[in-house]
Order: sequence, then C-alpha cells, then structure tokens
Amino acid sequence: MCGIVGYIGFRDAYPVVIKGLKRLEYRGYDSAGIALIDEHLKVFKKKGKVADLEESVNIKDVAGKIGIGHTRWATHGEPSDRNAHPHVSNNGKFAMIHNGIIENYVQIKNELQRKGYSFKSDTDTEVLLNFIEDIKLNNNCSLEEALRIALKRIVGAYCILLIDEQDPSTIIAARKGSPLVIGIGKGEHFLASDASPIIEYTKEVVYVNDYEIAIVKADELVLKNLGNEKQTPFITKLDMDLAEIEKGGYEHFMLKEIHEQPESIFDCLRGRLLPNEGKIVMNGVENNLDKLQNASRIIMVACGTSWHAGLVAEYVFEELCRIPVEVEYASEFRYRNPVINNGDVIIAISQSGETADTLVALEKAKEQGAFIFGVVNVVGSSIARISHAGAYTHSGHEIGVASTKAFTGQLAVLIMMALKIGYSKGTITEERYLQLMKDLESVPQKIKQILQNTDNIKAIANKYKDAHDFLYLGRGYNFPIALEGALKLKEISYIHAEGYPAAEMKHGPIALVDENLPVVFVATKDSYYEKIVSNVQEIKARKGKVIAVATEGDTIIPGMANDTLFVPDTDEIIAPLLSVIPLQLLSYHVGVMKGYDVDKPRNLAKSVTVE
Ligand code: F6R
Repeated sequence: MCGIVGYIGFRDAYPVVIKGLKRLEYRGYDSAGIALIDEHLKVFKKKGKVADLEESVNIKDVAGKIGIGHTRWATHGEPSDRNAHPHVSNNGKFAMIHNGIIENYVQIKNELQRKGYSFKSDTDTEVLLNFIEDIKLNNNCSLEEALRIALKRIVGAYCILLIDEQDPSTIIAARKGSPLVIGIGKGEHFLASDASPIIEYTKEVVYVNDYEIAIVKADELVLKNLGNEKQTPFITKLDMDLAEIEKGGYEHFMLKEIHEQPESIFDCLRGRLLPNEGKIVMNGVENNLDKLQNASRIIMVACGTSWHAGLVAEYVFEELCRIPVEVEYASEFRYRNPVINNGDVIIAISQSGETADTLVALEKAKEQGAFIFGVVNVVGSSIARISHAGAYTHSGHEIGVASTKAFTGQLAVLIMMALKIGYSKGTITEERYLQLMKDLESVPQKIKQILQNTDNIKAIANKYKDAHDFLYLGRGYNFPIALEGALKLKEISYIHAEGYPAAEMKHGPIALVDENLPVVFVATKDSYYEKIVSNVQEIKARKGKVIAVATEGDTIIPGMANDTLFVPDTDEIIAPLLSVIPLQLLSYHVGVMKGYDVDKPRNLAKSVTVE
C-alpha cells in the first residue's frame, strides 16, 4: 500500500520519479505527489492518479536533481490534495513521504499541538515529520539523528523518505515493515517500494532491512541500524527485465497476466517437475523433508486470493500426504492466541511477500517455535526472508491489482510440494505420483487451449454484466475456485458475488435464487460430479440462470446449463489450475464492459502493507 520513489544523481529527478510512480501505481491511487529541491523545496500534489498530478504540473517548474514521490492508498484522512504526500514540516524545510501506519500518532500530535505545531492534513505522516523537526530543533542535532530518536518512540510500520531543503545532496530513508529497495547506479541512486521503477537504470540493488536507516547521496550509500552502527549493504542482482513490467500490446495488465499463465506456470515447474525421471526437485522441501513429512499439522496462513490457494492446498495435502491441514486468515490468526505445537508446520502463501497481516502472523508463530515455509512470488520480500525455507512461485511481476498468474503459480508450487512429501512419506502410490506429475506438466498446454478462443467468455460476460448479484458454487477441489471466482468478480466489476460449497447452498443461500440470479457452477468431471449435477438441478428448478465451468466432452452439465465455459479434462487435483482461468476472464470482461479500470479497482491496492 502506497508506492514510494526517490532519486538523487545527475539526471533531472522529476521524469524519473513520475515514471517510477506510474510503475508503482498498483500500490495505491488515491493521490500522488512529488517534492524536489532545486534552489528551494518545491512540492506538487494532487488527489487522483499520477496522470492527474502530471497534468497539473508546469514542466518549467520541476527542475532539480533530487526528488521524492508518492502514490497513496488512503489510511488516515480521506483522499484529497491536502492529505496527499509529500508533507512539509512546520518550518517549511523538510519534506517526507511514508508508506505504513504510525499507531501512536494521536498522542504525539497532541504533544506537538501543545507546543504550538499546526497540521494541514489528517495524516499520521505529517505528525511523524513534525515530530522529527521538533526533535531536531530541540536537540540541535542532525536530521539523521532526529529521525533515529523519533523512530525509537513511534509504534507502527513505515518506509519513509525524507529530504531537507538545506541539504539537497541527501535523501534519508528508513524502513520497518514496509518495503524499500535502493538501486545503485554510477553517480546516482534510486529508491522505491519495489524494483520496477529501478530496473531500466540499474540491476544492482540493496533491499533495506527493518530498523535500518539509509543515508543516500548521489555517489554514496550508507546503511545504519537504529543504534547508529554502520551495516554492510548486501548487493543483489535483479533477475527481471523491462518487458515484464510493460503491457506488451495488451489493453490491461490483468489481461496480459491471465494470458501469461501458460508461460508462468511453465517457469514455475521448470527444473523442478521431472516426470521422466520420476523426481520433483525443490531444495526448500528436500532440505526439510523430515520436518515436513512428519508434521503433526500444517497451518496455511494467507489473505485473499492467496488464502484460496491455501484452501485448495488443504484438500491436496490431506489427500496426498495424510497430514491434517488448517487454513487460517492471517488477520485472525495473528490476533488470536493460536495453539502452535511442536511439529506444526506453517505454510505462508503470499504473492507480494509484504502483506502486513501475514507477515506479523508469521513473526508471532516464529516466536512460538513454528517452522515456517514460504510460498512467495516476490524474490527477497519480507515474507521470503522471514521464512525458514521456501519455494518461489516464479510467476514474474504481477501488476494488475487482482491476482491471477500468482494464484496459479501458488497452486502449482503447493501441488508439487504435496506430491513430493506424499511420495516420500509413502501416502501415494508411485503410479499416482507419476500420473499426477504428467497431468501437472500438461497444464501450460491446456491453459493455452482455453486461452485460444475466448469469444464465448466475452459473450457470456455481455449477457450477464447487468446482474446485481452472482452466486458461485463448487465442491471439493473446486470449492475454493468458486470462492476465487466470486472474489475476482467483486473486485473487478463491483458486482456483489458470493462463493459457497455447492451443497451448503440449500442451508440458506438458495433463498436468493430466482430468474434474475446468475449461478456459476464450477462443475468439472471429478469424484463429486454426480452430486453437483443434482445441485445444478436444484437451481434450475428455481429458475436460476446457470453458467457452468464444465469438462470438454461432458454433455450432462452443459445440457442443463444456460451457458457453459469448457476446460480440458484433467485429474481432479489439477483441475483448479484450469477451472479458474475462465472465471478470471469472465470477471475481466464484465469489468471492462462496465467501463471500470480493471488494473486499478477502486479502494484496493496490490500490496496490503497495513493491517
Ligand atoms: C485479490 C488479491 C488479494 C491478495 C491478498 C494477499 O485478487 O490480489 O486478495 O491475494 O491481498 O496478497 P499477497 O498474496 O500479496 O499476500
């Protein structure tokens, strides 16, 4: 949540920062702003998207070789020009941007108000900035020292960039809980919430750790901890290119990412799934095989779409490994007093690797001695680093706010893990192990098949786009896909949608069914097939409109449904990887037809770094 960019070097800062903000806009788009120092400190900010800011700025006013910029997802204070970052301190000298939440800001604000400070915004950020100014003036110390003192007093999460009109050669940055990457160029440095604004200038980056302060000059980077001790920056080479973060001819990132799935799953399986050798190579699993196969319980911890991946994995792990699995919303898990026993394994699932609820849940579980295995997309992210072991999904950069290719990457990794653990444990036969490996290997090709002709999906989207509510039903491995289909529709098209286990429908939701309610059945050929046929009949008997996701060649379900989306046949354990694809496309097309910005749905942000 909130994107942060900074530049210091020989180039004009404005174009670098603006371009970077556009790349980070998926993190929040309530307002955007930029601060530059030329002779003086200049701040430009605007409610709305980065393009609105750009339009409001006169290009003649934006000189300066040092700049910081922010794209906001509102927490404290409504989206407005006034609440947009950067904020400027009371003496007009310091400007700051912030991603995160300062929990004890009210108390600090009261203290500052008693001293005569005034505030132009409702934000916690402006409070922190004036707190730093106050400490600096009272202690007659450097800005860096004032920041250090302030950070020791505040409670919460932050990534901040701070500049001082009187020192145009330095950006001071600090992080705890919200990400910060620093790109190292020749005579220049780039700062950002992720590597996408940096990638076209340099591939050498440093991921700043929690409780570190970075003092960044054009030709020098100094990292210190809160005790003022120098830290050695660990330089990483970025494994990512520019093409990955551009639309590549697609109208939206979401559509591009849906179409990238044959390739992203192939990349996820490459070198790991080796059906011809009867082997799955996953070092994170291999090195901890004892712990994993002897786990007394597995707890999947995640949020949103990643939580749905955990639900699919619950079915898969219980079937293949015979280990009891619980799937927890990270936000609930962290605030309960969960029972964690010796022998429990936590699998954390996260695209961004920065989701605050998941991260804190893991910190708590780790404190209680749990073993943490991370299934993460973003390399080097906080969840990847806090985990004891893990497997990356290798889905590539996901920019569309709605998760698509990252979800199928998570499923692919989790299925491989269950196969490897189950086979080693002896809870699946060699025959089934080899068969499932082959089925998984053929997923990229089968997704390609689904994506070859999507006209039918578009026609169905057009037919139902004006409905006010949708019901999504599925059983077994496809039940979480019903939940995921409903979530995608809600977030992209703003249509109310509910996901339910198909059999549970008759315990309440069936009361909603009438001739106006589209009911999406995820009803591929599996061991629940006969049962779901009966559920479809129950809906038809009440005049509901049935849209079915069915297996190619099936005639029974398509014979009953008003409309059908076909997917190729596969084993029921693998089926979620296919049945989710038409549902992603259905919500995409409904959202586009309704005229919404599907890459940046209202009120959402890609990386939820606040609680
Ligand atoms: C929905 C979506 C969110 C995320 C959730 C967790 O399309 O993207 O529900 O899945 O915010 O995010 P990660 O996976 O980054 O932890």
